[in-house]
Amino acid sequence: MAIRVIQWGTGLVGAESLRVLLRRDDLEVVGVWRHSANQVGRDIASLTGGPDTGIRFTNSLQEIVAIDADCVLYMPRRAHIDEVVALLASGKNVICTPFAFFAKSWPEADYSRIEKACAAGSSTLYGTGLNPGFAGMIQPAALLGMSNRVDHIRIEERANWSFYGNAEITLELMKFGSPAEEAALENNPFVQFNDQIFKEQISMLADALKIALDEITTDQDLVLSESSFDIRSGHIAAQTVCGQRYHWRGWKNGRSLIEIDALWNVGEDYPTHWPKPRDGWTVSIEGSPSMQTHFVTLASFRPDSGATLDDHVHSADIATAMLAVNSIPQVVSAAAGVIAAHQMPLAIPNRPFNE
Ligand SMILES: NC(=O)c1ccc[n+]([C@@H]2O[C@H](COP(=O)([O-])OP(=O)(O)OC[C@H]3O[C@@H](n4cnc5c(N)ncnc54)[C@H](OP(=O)(O)O)[C@@H]3O)[C@@H](O)[C@H]2O)c1
Repeated sequence: MAIRVIQWGTGLVGAESLRVLLRRDDLEVVGVWRHSANQVGRDIASLTGGPDTGIRFTNSLQEIVAIDADCVLYMPRRAHIDEVVALLASGKNVICTPFAFFAKSWPEADYSRIEKACAAGSSTLYGTGLNPGFAGMIQPAALLGMSNRVDHIRIEERANWSFYGNAEITLELMKFGSPAEEAALENNPFVQFNDQIFKEQISMLADALKIALDEITTDQDLVLSESSFDIRSGHIAAQTVCGQRYHWRGWKNGRSLIEIDALWNVGEDYPTHWPKPRDGWTVSIEGSPSMQTHFVTLASFRPDSGATLDDHVHSADIATAMLAVNSIPQVVSAAAGVIAAHQMPLAIPNRPFNE
């Protein structure tokens, strides 16, 4: 019997996973949520192509809750705990890409709502994606299997947002191209949300290693542009934010043990005072043995692939979508409750060679 899946969100990541769900014979799409009121009632084929499916977009939580389904891929631009609680309580397993990477570290009131919903619905909650997810949790956790002694874990993400196609996230929410005071951590709720989800990764690694950290700190460094220029999402005026560095550190007895360094900029000038890892994700573990991996997604490594810049950028969305889709069988068969990356079997694709 196919696993019945609801796709919640049809953006860059959600549309990708919806197309894969429709192709897979072990998974069956039984509902699709999207945000825009003007899309409600349209057949999902209006987005995915092909003949009508009989499945129509809804933006109603109640309608989604009423559908008989095994799993929801929860991928909206803005995530709400109330929605996740309702889905879990209605008996649906939930795989999230926006948050819930290590819900055990959430404030007690929120975590206990999730736990109660999982118990009521006999359901499981799992958060995954490329980063947060693979780069900051799955990959380091896999490397740690080779460790005898660990002195320090460092995860770096270096990304130039100039090529990212989502203007709302880049300009309105992240505040690239805004005055520094608007992008400051204390003034920007979106960055505060990001702050929490990246800290969740440090909490998960500490939990995996059975360390009770004293605290996790955030240092934000904003860099202003000297000139004005255009990026894919719009315009960056001079003296507005063109660089944002977030340095999260998990401390024990005055020592930083686990750190994540997000080095995000727009434009051609990379801030000279920042660390300079390669583009993509670098995990460095100092200890015995000391280990380092560099990871990047592209549409293809073949020089003659014909892949465009858009294709290469979109490869990261595919990676996030597939981590969620490929986790469905394990999440559906997991015990009820909250599960995190270090407790999950590897996500493996279904018949990836199309043989
Ligand atoms: N963990 C990771 O590594 C990772 C990586 C990439 C993305 N993500 C997260 O995964 C989620 C999906 O990513 P994406 O790139 O697909 O995002 P996206 O393109 O911005 O997602 C758009 C989806 O969200 C809906 N939407 C639009 N405005 C909304 C609002 N105000 N509230 C709720 N939903 C809204 C859209 O509805 P319509 O279709 O009707 O427009 C669409 O279905 C995001 O939360 C993103 O932060 C995580």
